[in-house]
Amino acid sequence: MTNDAASLMDKVTALCKRRGFVFPGSEIYGGLANTYDYGPLGTLLLRNIKNSWWNFFVGRRSNIYPIDSNILMNPKVWEASGHVAGFTEALIDCKACRFRTRGDHLIGDYFAEKGKTENVEGYPLKKMEEIINHEKIPCPKCKKFDWTKPRVFNNLFETSIGIISGDKSIAYLRGETAQGMFVNFRNVLTSMSPKLPFGLAQSGPAFRNEITPGKFVFRTLQFSLSEFEYYFDPEKDKWENVFEYWRGEMWKWAVKELGIKETSLRWRAHTDEERSFYSKRTEDIEYNFPWGYKELYGLAYRTDYDLKNHMEKSGVDLQYTDSATGRKFIPHVVEPAFGMDRSFMVVLFDAYSEENKDGKERMVLKLDPKIAPYKAAVFPLLANKPELIDKARAIYDMLYTKYSCIWDDRGNIGKRYFAQDEIGTPWCITVDFDTLKDDAVTVRDRDTAKQERIGVGKLEEYFSSKLEK
Ligand code: GAP
Repeated sequence: MTNDAASLMDKVTALCKRRGFVFPGSEIYGGLANTYDYGPLGTLLLRNIKNSWWNFFVGRRSNIYPIDSNILMNPKVWEASGHVAGFTEALIDCKACRFRTRGDHLIGDYFAEKGKTENVEGYPLKKMEEIINHEKIPCPKCKKFDWTKPRVFNNLFETSIGIISGDKSIAYLRGETAQGMFVNFRNVLTSMSPKLPFGLAQSGPAFRNEITPGKFVFRTLQFSLSEFEYYFDPEKDKWENVFEYWRGEMWKWAVKELGIKETSLRWRAHTDEERSFYSKRTEDIEYNFPWGYKELYGLAYRTDYDLKNHMEKSGVDLQYTDSATGRKFIPHVVEPAFGMDRSFMVVLFDAYSEENKDGKERMVLKLDPKIAPYKAAVFPLLANKPELIDKARAIYDMLYTKYSCIWDDRGNIGKRYFAQDEIGTPWCITVDFDTLKDDAVTVRDRDTAKQERIGVGKLEEYFSSKLEK
């Protein structure tokens, strides 16, 4: 990372801690590496992002059905899906200082430092070893060149079920939410009789035993995943068209609903080596993180791989019957997958700005108002005037039933504005002595710092029209 990039990362993580967005997990016990807890503001922001995803991809579409499957599934699910054998990465250790990393990350970072892009994810172990030896890639920590051979490491997070030690059976915390939507395919067909094409969507936690977690909430052991399996008849719909449609919708959601700058995003197709074992084509939306372009979301054409394997291994018929022709077949699937924590991180990076307003430095989170934790802050001009407080409280209570709002009567108005700018509150409402006469308030816009007088009775309409943009 360059100094500027490292400083943006430091600033955003410090802000997250200071203002209650994200806290290190289990902090009072010294923490637990690569786990994080969302604080009040982070929870609101993350919830708004998840709701936005849900409304855009599920709520507004009559052929996308929601499901909510269990985190724990029969281990046979993960055997049939190929995860037990294939959900792996290349692990390598520095013998000198015991630094452990992923072979592809070691090679990728080494070349990135030289200004080159070298994506070797999914390369065979032998080939990675050859590159590391040929380049004599040193350990990034101790700078020595003394590596173990790369070896395979499975990312599935093992746990055990059973109350008596010695009598416990292995289970896995789900590595993706997708499998719940394959193993329930038959249940949905029989209970809902959906017609192809249709989707099954779910949002929830996933777990991966990552070799190189880190970079704040970019890669963690537990993360929130929102994805859907879009089933279609490959004889009626060309997969390229289905893929292209969801490609467009994914981009639209990121840009129009989350407000991420288009200039920071790009599509990148996976190479044959890096593509997951289940996919025939994968493309990622990448974001230009402070440490370079990296995956934000993924779109995969999983063919009939999963349903076919589950049908073979479970012995349950997972075919769809075309009611018009009676033809039985296994549908194909295109899967858009979205990490919610990465979305959270990206909207913060994208929104963070520092500027000089009227000779004063301020830090502003220019979040899209639709996802900002609070839509408005309500202030009485002075905290020791009961008539101002009563009026401001009444406005706060009225707005709170519709929008998430915050009350602040500490310090002077300038400080309150700056405190709200930092957490991305789009509008601040001040009740002053004129309000008691004209029933109007001062509304100050976060991004322009411009102020206008709005009648109290017009406030709801004012915010609704702005939020619908
Ligand atoms: N079902 C497909 C699937 O899980 P993936 O590319 O492995 O695909 C989907 O993961 C998304 O989940 C990624 O695009 C990323 O946003 C997020 N993600 C994956 N691993 C993560 C981790 N360890 N920590 C945080 N987010 C992660």
